[in-house]
Amino acid sequence: MKSVIALLFIALTFHSFGAGDATKGQALYKACIQCHGDNGRGNPTQEAPSIAGQYDWYIVSSINQFKKGVERKNPKMLPFIKNLSDSDIADLAAYISKMK
Ligand code: HEC
Repeated sequence: MKSVIALLFIALTFHSFGAGDATKGQALYKACIQCHGDNGRGNPTQEAPSIAGQYDWYIVSSINQFKKGVERKNPKMLPFIKNLSDSDIADLAAYISKMK
């Protein structure tokens, strides 16, 4: 029984620190390139910041804040993120956080 609980705990831990899937994230990132650049370094003409190599948890929390539109608002980016699911956002974060 103890080992079942331990396994469950490990599974849940991995799930919640949920390493997103960077390969799926790369495909989703195509929608972001026009503003954040193909290398994630941002685009001055769009006033879009560099996000390459940012912590994954920070990317997840920023996107969720923009999606809710309370703490942070960004009408330009909203159409591109409003339909992303939690797992899409985790996948994007996995990809972007590994960009150099
Ligand atoms: C139309 C342009 C545009 C598109 C497309 C766009 N963004 Fe943004 N993004 C911005 C701008 C401008 C900001 C800065 C807004 C602010 O902080 O008020 C921003 C901010 C961010 C931030 C927060 C950065 C920080 O340091 O706080 C993240 C993360 C982000 N975008 C991710 C994405 C992802 C992922 C996509 C694709 C799904 C995307 N963006 C698509 C324009 C865009």
